[in-house]
Amino acid sequence: MTRPLRTLAYRHRWFYEAVTAASALGVGGPARLRQLAATWLAEQLPAGSPVLDLCCGGGEAALALAQLGLSVCGLDVAPRALDQARARSRRLGLAINWIEGLAEDPPLPAGSQMGVQISLALHEFSADERAAVLGACQRLLKPGGWLAVLDLHPAQGPMVLPQKLFCALFETETALDFLASDLERETSAAGLVVRRRQLLAGGALQRLLAQKPLNQAPE
Ligand SMILES: C[S@@+](CC[C@H](N)C(=O)[O-])C[C@H]1O[C@@H](n2cnc3c(N)ncnc32)[C@H](O)[C@@H]1O
Repeated sequence: MTRPLRTLAYRHRWFYEAVTAASALGVGGPARLRQLAATWLAEQLPAGSPVLDLCCGGGEAALALAQLGLSVCGLDVAPRALDQARARSRRLGLAINWIEGLAEDPPLPAGSQMGVQISLALHEFSADERAAVLGACQRLLKPGGWLAVLDLHPAQGPMVLPQKLFCALFETETALDFLASDLERETSAAGLVVRRRQLLAGGALQRLLAQKPLNQAPE
C-alpha cells in the first residue's frame, strides 16, 4: 500500500527534503545523514577507488562519496531523480557517472567496484528483492571490496513512537518487513563478511560495513 504523504514526498522534492531533515535530527542533520555510509567506505579505500552508490536518488549520498575523494557512479531506476543528481553534481563541479538501472541487476561488470553504498534504500525492497540487491553487490565488488549500508532499525525507548508514526505516514510494507528482518544475516547470506555494525538515532537507524572475502573470485 502506498501512503499518500509518501506520494507527495516523491512528487515534491521540497517535501521530501523537509521529511528527511526532520528524520535526520537524531544524527545531526541531513548532510551528516548522507555521510554516514560514505565515511565508513572512505575509511577503507584509497582515494580514487571506484565506488557505486546504489539507489542514489537525488544524489546527496553519492556526492558525499565524491567529496571524500572516491570515484563515484550513482545508479537509480528513476530518471527524474537522476536529473536532479546530475544537476547537483554539476553545480558542485564533481564528476560523477549517473546511470539508470535496476539495483537488482546493475548494468556494470562483475568485480568492477572497490566499494558499494546503499543509503536509506534497502527498506524499499521485499525480502527476495533484498537478496537480489545484496547478491548484486557481492557480484560487483572486487575481492576485498567493501559494502556500506545505512537504513532503518527497530527503534528503542523514546524513538519507538516517532518511528512508528514515520512508517505509518511515509513507508510501505517493505519497510515494515525490513524492520522485522536481520540485515546482518541477509548480508552474510549474500557471501559478504560483516565487519562492523552500529546503531544510531536512538536505535532507529543502523549502519553496517561488510567485506567481500579476498579468496572469492568475481563470477
Ligand atoms: C529513499 S530513496 C534514497 C535515496 C538516496 N540513496 C538517499 O540516501 O537519499 C530510495 C531510492 O531508491 C530508488 N529505487 C527504488 N527501487 C529501485 C530499484 N529497483 N533499482 C534502483 N533504484 C531503485 C528510488 O528511485 C529512490 O531514488
